[in-house]
Amino acid sequence: MATEVSVPQYRSNIYSRSAILDPYPHYAELRALGPVVWLPRHRAYAVSRYADCKTVLLDDETFISGDGVALNPVANRLGRGTTLNSDGDEHALKRSVLAHRLTPKAVRTMRAAVEEKAEQIVDTALAKGLVDGVDDLATALPTSIVPDLVGWPEEGRENLLRWAGATFDSLGPINRQSIGAAKAAGEMMAFSKRVVRERSVLPGSMGADVLTAADENKIPESQCPALMIDYLAPSLDTTIGAISSALHLFAHNPEQWQILRDDPDRIPNAVNEVVRYESPLRAFSRRAVRDTDIGGAPVPAGARILVIYASANRDPREWHDPDTFDITRDAARQLGFGSGVHGCAGQGLARLETQTLLRLLARRVERIEPAGTPRWAVNNVIHRFDRLPLKLVAAEGTTP
Ligand code: HEM
Repeated sequence: MATEVSVPQYRSNIYSRSAILDPYPHYAELRALGPVVWLPRHRAYAVSRYADCKTVLLDDETFISGDGVALNPVANRLGRGTTLNSDGDEHALKRSVLAHRLTPKAVRTMRAAVEEKAEQIVDTALAKGLVDGVDDLATALPTSIVPDLVGWPEEGRENLLRWAGATFDSLGPINRQSIGAAKAAGEMMAFSKRVVRERSVLPGSMGADVLTAADENKIPESQCPALMIDYLAPSLDTTIGAISSALHLFAHNPEQWQILRDDPDRIPNAVNEVVRYESPLRAFSRRAVRDTDIGGAPVPAGARILVIYASANRDPREWHDPDTFDITRDAARQLGFGSGVHGCAGQGLARLETQTLLRLLARRVERIEPAGTPRWAVNNVIHRFDRLPLKLVAAEGTTP
């Protein structure tokens, strides 16, 4: 790892508990310091401006993922074999094994099932009136859709959310969070190995595709457990983050909820604006394979580069009034789903889930009101609520 530093430094810990809970002041300082800022505590170069984050994400030959996207070497070693942590042809092959399951066409076939689940969830929530936006609305949908899609056996599902959250947490720098999460992340991998060994995936699922690809020698069998986790781990907390942030933002910006109710065609863009405003995934890293520069600032070969999606999405160089939540702005170019070859493979599904819930709520809920103090989850990578008390006020003529 290169240690020569000729760019500004930022000595604060951007992964302290307080920074995890409120990262935006840190991101503003990083953006003001320059296109590339050395983080001595994390031995990484932060890239925090929109244009520079995009440049790094699009240049996957210079900034590789194959040495891991985490901020610590242990997680980077354990993550070998995943789609997320691979480059070039190997990445294309891995992505092709499963990504066809999540193309726009494939996602369209899931619409009816997602709508049916979402109706049940909204019915139950409206009957309660007072809800926890995380447990009662945001978590219910992804956890009822994705495990079946991936083909994860019924047994072990009760651990999925804990395991998936820990898998993300373990990708931060070496700190109390990532060390504490390592055990649960390891349990998820051990369970996945057993699922592959016993071939206990649901028939017709993504997991079954992975086993078939190994049977046909397209991928080594040893990589099957990582590939199964590849799609399960990133699909839960991220979507829970998007849905819960949407509920929170609309509860605090009732005029925006009214705009959405008056014109439901705005829902797809509203989801972009939610993901821009409260990016569910803060940042991932890359490794530079040669001496290069980013935004005119030098970066040595071997450097670890932290691409902060959540900062790019609040960069005033790119966005007018970035700290205002406004569903009428065009937010389609937000970087919350990444960009380039590693751009989120599951964003079609995440969008479908979030849009469907918002559509049903917009139809039946006149106001979403805050009903207590929300609590953010403390996680190195995921930015989401873990408690969100809300009151749903039913629209006139709607049976709760
Ligand atoms: C709002 C929800 C979501 C957000 C914000 C999100 C965010 C992201 C981001 C930022 C990346 C880029 C990683 C990188 O640059 O290295 C990514 C990749 C990925 N996401 Fe998502 N994600 C979401 C939902 C999902 C869902 C529902 C699935 C699966 C069903 C999924 C599966 C994946 C996979 C497999 C990759 C790796 C792609 C690759 O390396 O080629 N994600 N996601």
